[in-house]
Amino acid sequence: MQSDDVRNKFIQYYKARKHVAIPSASLVPENDPTTLFTSSGMQPLIPYLLGQTHPSGKRLVDSQKSFRSQDIDEVGDNRHTTFFEMLGNWSLGDYFKKEQLPWIFEFLTKELKLDPKRLYVSVFEGEGAVPKDEESIHIWKKIFKEVGIDAKEGLSLNEGGRIFAYPAKKNWWSRSGEPKNMPPGEPGGPDSEVFFDFGAKGLHEKSPWKNEPCHPNCDCGRFMEIANSVFMQYQKMPDGNLKELAQKNVDFGGGLERMTAAANDNPDVFMSDLFSPLIQVLEEASGRVYGEEPVPTRVMRVLSDHIKAAIMMMVDGVLPSNKGQGYILRRLIRRSLLYGWKLGLIKDLTYIGRLASPVAKIYAGSYPEVTEKIDEIRLLLQEEALRFGKTLERGLAEIEKFPALNGKIAFNLYETFGFPWEMTVEIASEKGQTVDRAQFEEEFNKHKTLSRTAAAGMFKGGLADHGEETTKLHTAHHLLLASLQKLVDPSIKQRGSNITAERLRIDFNFMRKLTPEELTKVEVMVNEKIKENLKVTRIEMARGVAETMGAQREFGQKYPDRVGVYFVNLKEGVDPERATPADYFSAEFCGGPHVSFTGTLGHFTIRKEESAGAGIRRIYGLLSK
Ligand code: SER
Repeated sequence: MQSDDVRNKFIQYYKARKHVAIPSASLVPENDPTTLFTSSGMQPLIPYLLGQTHPSGKRLVDSQKSFRSQDIDEVGDNRHTTFFEMLGNWSLGDYFKKEQLPWIFEFLTKELKLDPKRLYVSVFEGEGAVPKDEESIHIWKKIFKEVGIDAKEGLSLNEGGRIFAYPAKKNWWSRSGEPKNMPPGEPGGPDSEVFFDFGAKGLHEKSPWKNEPCHPNCDCGRFMEIANSVFMQYQKMPDGNLKELAQKNVDFGGGLERMTAAANDNPDVFMSDLFSPLIQVLEEASGRVYGEEPVPTRVMRVLSDHIKAAIMMMVDGVLPSNKGQGYILRRLIRRSLLYGWKLGLIKDLTYIGRLASPVAKIYAGSYPEVTEKIDEIRLLLQEEALRFGKTLERGLAEIEKFPALNGKIAFNLYETFGFPWEMTVEIASEKGQTVDRAQFEEEFNKHKTLSRTAAAGMFKGGLADHGEETTKLHTAHHLLLASLQKLVDPSIKQRGSNITAERLRIDFNFMRKLTPEELTKVEVMVNEKIKENLKVTRIEMARGVAETMGAQREFGQKYPDRVGVYFVNLKEGVDPERATPADYFSAEFCGGPHVSFTGTLGHFTIRKEESAGAGIRRIYGLLSK
């Protein structure tokens, strides 16, 4: 079955059930400064899931272009891609579980003609205040019974289990994952997934999980998740609890690439018509054959994924640059060239440009704008490839001067040629070597310390002194980091700090400039936390315990075996070593000193936000009476 057929069948199926088809939103989110790319179908629909009226009504169907950079290291296996299309159907406070689950089952079995015996499902097993999803279990049993299958729950595969209950880590969906990681305001809910069984074929027995029983969520490759019905009915509150939304929504997402693979009973998504024209170009350019040997197969998967993703970003207006979306685009192209080198493609880089037309053809019916822009994109892509190709060649020649790579050389390559860590790792593995990450980080830190010392004088623990003003700013610094994580992006980590009696400075990883609205929100939260006069407590614990508990640490810093952790507002009666983020406002590895209560800090103001290097932002802040 062709992917165009799968997409059309899906849209038609739901249109016949009174859904209105809406177009895919751009890969670059329009009104959402919290994230670089649209990474799921629900992202552009968040306001409507939270209650706003959608102009097209309460039942929607779409195919959303999506990009997930967090999956980049997984690309190379049979099913992970960074760019994908997510088929979605949406109930905005309209139907719920008893319509959703039978519909998706009917679509998969009647429209895609998947054998019901090869479908397995999962449900949420319950956690915290949210109970086990018994209703979905009941509905699934009924659905399977209608096709003559006695679907058992609570049994292993060997015992005939077909419905599997998993904890929040697997069966809860929000943009930030399980409830404990959701920032205030974030919607989420339990979900129920459908897995397609590609057959045992000895896969599990050969996998690293061979000593554990196989199950639908096992990573051995036997099962592939093809459909996910999220019952989006909760929202995280500032107090850490989940509140039921006024409307119960369905957010269904199924990867087009994976559904097509299941429809064709071929577990390799790269062999579907969504990738095979790109693989063909790579085979011609390299003279290697896809599928016959593991290395070229993996490399061709990465290359076709990355170049397709790069082209789709460019269609939506992204250009290569050193910031934000442009930086991710640049990295995709650079990574592709490195992988091309593994195929022996280094002198002639025109193969990159030759990958453009196949992408336009793949999406000619669904996204005609790709065809409209492809000539311009081919030139830009080729130009970017040639520019980095020269650096790559020089860097590779430099590497040849060393008999073996080590972390120090890897750092020099990073400094001089902009080779990211992962690229050096790839080069080393090609030479049958490994590189020591700790040594790379040691060099990285040495360099960071040197540049900090040169620029601003060296202060112990980032503090100029232990005076009253500096101490207050130090506590404000902790409030600021926690507010950035809660309001802007939970993945923000501190990359450096510098505090004097006059002002604080924090460096953190983030790909773009913060908006004035974000800065205002952060400032307001810090001041609220000051007004709440929260208690600051120091607890000593083993480093490993502090890490597991989730205390923040500065990237690349070395810490002793026992560390001090400063908590702001640790809940009464909670064992600090077992605290979760819901039990405190902030927890950081820190040598102090701090104030005892935040109420003494005064008023906090953000003075400036600027870039402090690729992917690093810097904020200056002040306290006044
Ligand atoms: N939001 C869910 C996902 O992205 C279902 O659409 O998997």
